[in-house]
Amino acid sequence: MAAVLAYTVTPMKVQVLPSLLAADFGRLANEIRRVEASGADALHLDIMDAHFVPNLSFGPDIVSLARRVCPDLYRHTHLMMTRPDLYSGRFVEAGSQTVQIHAEADCDIWGALAAIRADGVRTGLVLRPQTPVSTLFPYLSLCDEVLFMTVNPGYGGQAFMDEVLPKISVLRRHADASGANGLEIMVDGGINFETAELCAAYGANQFVAGSFLFKQQEMGAAVTRLREICEKAYGTNLR
Ligand code: DX5
Ligand code: ZN
Repeated sequence: MAAVLAYTVTPMKVQVLPSLLAADFGRLANEIRRVEASGADALHLDIMDAHFVPNLSFGPDIVSLARRVCPDLYRHTHLMMTRPDLYSGRFVEAGSQTVQIHAEADCDIWGALAAIRADGVRTGLVLRPQTPVSTLFPYLSLCDEVLFMTVNPGYGGQAFMDEVLPKISVLRRHADASGANGLEIMVDGGINFETAELCAAYGANQFVAGSFLFKQQEMGAAVTRLREICEKAYGTNLR
């Protein structure tokens, strides 16, 4: 009888990123300080253009504000824009340290990722829940990370879509098999202790959470707990 070889998932650092979209905008500077004090790994900034998604959020000035208020808090930027290629440079100038664009954007994806990388920051490609995971494969050499949306992009506070889970394990296995084994895989939308644990088990290592973290009395305790849960669960559904 043939032996079944166990799959060894590449170890990855687990990271937690609160999404500023869920902050109290009346006291934004304090909310950014609260994220830094929580021990989170980065601040996630959601940019919506009212065209790619049916909502508007904020622009590069808020990225600059974050840099001014907490210069050491990593600024991670998710562009939900039809033409991210026309704006990514402005976000880099404002202080974005990772710029993510959607694979469904209406532009030359290869060129847009190459331009972000040429600007000296990290790149990421994002998929809507309905977009097949294979859409990413041609671009992986230009991606430092991939973000799977686990809600339809556009609004915070929506319910997690568990049909996205198999895409996470397909990509983790593909990355491990194709030499891209340091690929960061991130999830965003409806993330809480339970849904994060599921995503980690399927091979995600970075977790964006908006409403769940901002509604906590003690954001720091929730960030620590989320990280611990995900470190324990990471890759357990792949072995
Ligand atoms: C949704 C945004 C998310 C959003 C997540 O389009 O990309 O980052 O802030 O919010 P929650 O965690 O509340 O689902
Ligand atoms: Zn986001």
